[in-house]
Amino acid sequence: MNIPKLDFGRTTLLTSKDAAFLNGIWREAAPCLARGIRKDFVVHTMGVVKAMGTIAPLNQNIASTLLPAAILHDVGWFLVEGKLQKSNSKTDMEMALHLHIAYAPNIIYPILHRIGLPTHSIDRIADIVRAHKFQRPSDPDKQLLIDADGLSDVFKEQFWSDVTSYNVLPAVLLDKRVTDKQEEEPFFFAISRRRFKIEAAKRLGEIASR
Ligand SMILES: [Fe+2]
Repeated sequence: MNIPKLDFGRTTLLTSKDAAFLNGIWREAAPCLARGIRKDFVVHTMGVVKAMGTIAPLNQNIASTLLPAAILHDVGWFLVEGKLQKSNSKTDMEMALHLHIAYAPNIIYPILHRIGLPTHSIDRIADIVRAHKFQRPSDPDKQLLIDADGLSDVFKEQFWSDVTSYNVLPAVLLDKRVTDKQEEEPFFFAISRRRFKIEAAKRLGEIASR
């Protein structure tokens, strides 16, 4: 497959060694993500990586842990049965969501072992990925992944890609995402909330001018 280039959100974030390390993970993760059916997980993950690079505090943790977790957070979809991914039943959707979390380590460990990461680092990344759904963790790294996942949903390319995948009216999708972030799963960090507001306003403008 033709693997698109990742945007890490802040241009000064990474050394060239960091970028090479992350692109190595991306080259392995992207083909797995391309097998997801529910939506375009390659585009989605690119948004989560950019969102993570935008909101994460500037320290060593970004390149070693947070960006790898962002790149790999949805690879578990690769192993979720197609029939289950496509189902519109609420029980099936819930089951598929649980399975993509449960299956994630089966993909993450081999990829990161091949890249040469020590097991304790892989354990940490897999642990962050496991906490990105159905949890309100107190660990800031886990909170950052949940925030990045939610923030990416209102980025331009990601939002309009989801409108197509879900075959839904853009105003309905935007309204749902704003409501979810106000009521169901609020952001942990003020920076995520601020960026979400700015991006949601832009999407509203695009919808109004259509
Ligand atoms: Fe995600």
